[in-house]
Amino acid sequence: MNEQIEVMISEQQVDERICELANRISKDYEGKELHLIIILKGSVFFACELAKRITVPVTMDFMSVSSYGDGMVSAGHITVKKELDEDIEGKDVLIVEDIVDSGNTLFHLKNLLEGRSPASLKIVTLLDKPDRRVKEIATDYCGFEIEDKFVVGYGLDYAQKYRNLPYIGVIEG
Ligand code: IMP
Ligand code: MG
Repeated sequence: MNEQIEVMISEQQVDERICELANRISKDYEGKELHLIIILKGSVFFACELAKRITVPVTMDFMSVSSYGDGMVSAGHITVKKELDEDIEGKDVLIVEDIVDSGNTLFHLKNLLEGRSPASLKIVTLLDKPDRRVKEIATDYCGFEIEDKFVVGYGLDYAQKYRNLPYIGVIEG
């Protein structure tokens, strides 16, 4: 099946917003080192663009968790599919997420990582769909708040497709 995709946030808008986020993050972490935890796979495009523009020293690690199958419905819990390679104890950690929807993923992930004693633990997300929130979770940095629509592109997929679109789009119909 081939879905119709309509542009919601253009490539230029996304790039400009990522620059703003990177500037703020660089100021907030001045004099520190920042350890990015990138949530596979959706956050990879966002994380690369963000990390390139952060001016404090950055280290990166990757984790894969799932709360979604191939469809559009949340399972209500997370499974860790790929663990971090490194310890986060004593580090200033920033979780890089593509989108906060129900909040389930970040709620469970934040609890899990807080138990590993990082010096600090914050969250940056490219997109936030506040209307769909089930779990209370505060993000520290957010690119765009969007309405309750299923979006693809800039790392986000529908059944593993469309991650490579350079903009945020909406599946029509
Ligand atoms: P949450 O646990 O419900 O907050 O869902 C977070 C995860 O669901 C995200 O990291 C995405 O992988 C996926 N997700 C939620 N909404 C969308 C969407 O609109 N498009 C693509 N993936 C989404
Ligand atoms: Mg994700």
